[in-house]
Amino acid sequence: MSLAPRAERPWWRDAVTYQIYIRSYADSNGDGKGDVEGIRSRLPYLKALGINAIWITPWYPSPQKDHGYDVADYMDIEPDYGTLEHAQELINEAHGLGIKFIVDIVPNHSSDQHVWFQEALRSAPGSAARDRYMFRDGKGENGELPPNDWEAVFGGSAWQRIVEADGQLGQWYLHLFAESQPDFNWENKEVREHFEDILRFWLDRGVDGFRIDVAHGMVKEPGLPDVKADSKMLDKDARPYWDQPGVHEIYREWRKIFDSYSGHRMGVAEAWVSAESLPLYLRPDELANSFNFQFLDSKWDAKIIKKNIKETLKNLEGTGAPASWVYENHDVTRKVNRFDRGLRGGGVSDPKQRYGNMKKFSIVRGTQRAAAGALLMLALPGGAYIYQGEELGLPEVTDIPKDRLEDPRWRMSGFKDPGRDGCRVPIPWTENPDGAYGFSTRHSLTAQEAWLPQPKGWGSFAVDKQEQNQNSMLWLYRKALKIRQNEEGLGDGELTWIKAGKEVVAFSREGNFNCWVNFGKTVKLPKGAKVILSSQPLKGRKLPKDTSVWFRG
Ligand code: GLC
Ligand code: CA
Repeated sequence: MSLAPRAERPWWRDAVTYQIYIRSYADSNGDGKGDVEGIRSRLPYLKALGINAIWITPWYPSPQKDHGYDVADYMDIEPDYGTLEHAQELINEAHGLGIKFIVDIVPNHSSDQHVWFQEALRSAPGSAARDRYMFRDGKGENGELPPNDWEAVFGGSAWQRIVEADGQLGQWYLHLFAESQPDFNWENKEVREHFEDILRFWLDRGVDGFRIDVAHGMVKEPGLPDVKADSKMLDKDARPYWDQPGVHEIYREWRKIFDSYSGHRMGVAEAWVSAESLPLYLRPDELANSFNFQFLDSKWDAKIIKKNIKETLKNLEGTGAPASWVYENHDVTRKVNRFDRGLRGGGVSDPKQRYGNMKKFSIVRGTQRAAAGALLMLALPGGAYIYQGEELGLPEVTDIPKDRLEDPRWRMSGFKDPGRDGCRVPIPWTENPDGAYGFSTRHSLTAQEAWLPQPKGWGSFAVDKQEQNQNSMLWLYRKALKIRQNEEGLGDGELTWIKAGKEVVAFSREGNFNCWVNFGKTVKLPKGAKVILSSQPLKGRKLPKDTSVWFRG
């Protein structure tokens, strides 16, 4: 495959996109919650880091039952986070720095506070207002049993019974996530049109794309048949609500809208589907990117990682779409912990998988592996996604006091699974040990006053501290991103596998560029290898365990 020069290719073919979880990024007004103005003040940091695009998690008005993934109004900004004017300024300023801007769209469900859902509750069964959501009569003599056996991703039944306008118990509505997140009925024309308006609303404001939440949801199998098994977030078994063929029709319509705007607007799918299904979302008339959760789900093991990369590239053959590598996001345990403890990434519904045995966690080894993994990901063909704090090597916070946990999974799992808050703790910007480590740009907060408390010692990961140390994780990312930017052969393109031993994942890219990742005993680099960057300082040609290197030769 011959490639067009980078300047002529759509930007999303090899962009490195940085995910901002707005509530935890930077707080401009000292209320303990991140906001739009906070992000704006950190744009110079992002520019210096060398990323190409920002994806911001939902910033719309929301009761925050699932921190923004419960949207009450898709065409405005949450007052705690700012205003539409602030949002527009942020988009414009990012663009001024040459950074693309992606917003998060949540089409599977809204908040129960959305005007449409409130109208549906007031309206009669069978009404047009109810048809926008998934209302059904219950089973049993008096409709007292849920319409089917579907389970919510966060735990418990996926159905909630309502009290009708006359005060009597009545119909049930479907919520694949929390009760406060009712699923839309995508067979309804008004729902489809509403989302097309929402896309245009943000495209008109200049956004370059959308991260599509639960992109494999939306369409449900007709008749809503029983599953007869436990539902899990990442489950290869067919589910009557995941990955239905009908979703592709929606993306074909959306693609037409993206293409009617200039500048390669795009969609990136959050689709937890099988490796075989994933390329379907990436057909030329559908979405540009789809997070590669198969990669995210690989534990730190040469054989598994190599197999998953190979499969990804093979499955994408023929679609023309690039791979989109990702290790972390706001839903999974930080990779420093995962890689150390041999955990997979996707086991979000199983607390054992999320945390494993953290008593034995070694931050030194975890950090070393996380650094090695970073150079692997950033040398692979295609684009990559980085989650805020990943560039600082932040570990998972595993000891948030139970009374401070906010993830609905904690409650809905019957207080068994602490959920995802451990990867959402606010970012340490300064080492200052008394306050919230610079999270509040006004410095008037304590670490306890941040919406999720920051642990003691969080300052050792702070940006200002890492900036002073050329061997820090932050500098590793900065150097790697700079090399990637200047190196024509990195990003989009092909790779050639190299045999360097069972425990080594090794490949070359265009222009004599090589990446070796060693998972086992020390190996020697080829004679004449000119090292460009390594995940830790090297002695001569020796590449120790859990270390990556980029070299020419
Ligand atoms: C996605 C989001 C997750 C959210 C869920 C429901 O998986 O990434 O944070 O809880 O959708 O919207
Ligand atoms: Ca704030």
